[in-house]
Amino acid sequence: MDITKLVRPNISKLKPYSSARDDFKGSASVYLDANENPYPSDFNRYPDPHQQKLKTKIAAIKNIPAENIFVGNGSDEPIDLLFRAFCEPGVDNVLIPEPTYGMYTVSANINNIAIRNISLTPDFDLDVDAISKTWDKNTKLLFLCSPNNPSGNLLSEEKIIQLLNTFPGLVIVDEAYIDFTKQPGFLSKIKDYSNLVVLQTLSKAWGLASLRIGMCFAQPEIIQVLNKIKPPYNISGINQQLAEQALKEVTRKEKNVQEIIAQREWLKTELKQLSSVRQVFPSEANFLLVKIDQAREKYQQLIQTGVVVRDRSSVILCQDCLRITVGTPSENQQLLKTLKKLD
Ligand SMILES: Cc1ncc(COP(=O)(O)O)c(C=O)c1O
Repeated sequence: MDITKLVRPNISKLKPYSSARDDFKGSASVYLDANENPYPSDFNRYPDPHQQKLKTKIAAIKNIPAENIFVGNGSDEPIDLLFRAFCEPGVDNVLIPEPTYGMYTVSANINNIAIRNISLTPDFDLDVDAISKTWDKNTKLLFLCSPNNPSGNLLSEEKIIQLLNTFPGLVIVDEAYIDFTKQPGFLSKIKDYSNLVVLQTLSKAWGLASLRIGMCFAQPEIIQVLNKIKPPYNISGINQQLAEQALKEVTRKEKNVQEIIAQREWLKTELKQLSSVRQVFPSEANFLLVKIDQAREKYQQLIQTGVVVRDRSSVILCQDCLRITVGTPSENQQLLKTLKKLD
């Protein structure tokens, strides 16, 4: 696929902002080029706009070249930039199989891009026929979330590949929860598909939600477009440094993930024993979707005991469902204790 043809014409023509750090790349003893305050502090200089050191770390961990990586202020930034780069407001449309993560819809609405929703199947997998019938010449993006939020399951790999081979725009596979499954995900397929975009984040398995570091992986043609339109210093210097440090702690992250997975399986078994629980859906993420009698009331009753979960009961295919994040062992016990009392 020729990606340059998918880019909005005004973005293709855009001359990007060139920061002082772009204009002069060497090292000097006196910097009078960026209107910074000269008096030393930890924060008086602008950060690296291209996050080179952080990207080198991510590249090593993910086994993918740095030129395939875009770092955003959370995954929400690349989601928004993909709309701005590829979708003409009031003209183009995107496909969002649902239920799924809410930001795709919010971002589409902010950018005035029409949304075509397609329901997932009752077991939360892709309906490829329905998706294929829904796109037209103005369909630019297809959002697939795997493992899916709020259902927790992986989408069928075979079906995603089928869509990568047939969809006429970019296929965005959001893998925010990929570390909680044994499946490898789609990173290794980036080299094979010019229309594949993979989103990952440091907010979940790495435990760094407050740093707001989202990662977008794709072939360099797409990465270059995102770099062209991003705010110049989109990741603060301190957050780049903290993320670089945290990425050294692979063992700690892995231990954390294993503990969360073990707790997920324990919680699932315990929840299934409650008489009010109708179903606990299979999950490869750090949360469980639970069909429970009187979900709304249960949600309120839990809040009264200081435990907050997510009420998803008004979401398509999620009637009577709560989405419960896996917490620490004592948090999970507290949740269960309350649910048992209400049972
Ligand atoms: C599927 C999915 N993608 C992305 C995000 C947001 O990630 P970030 O914190 O990197 O913006 C979330 C957050 O809940 C999510 O569920």
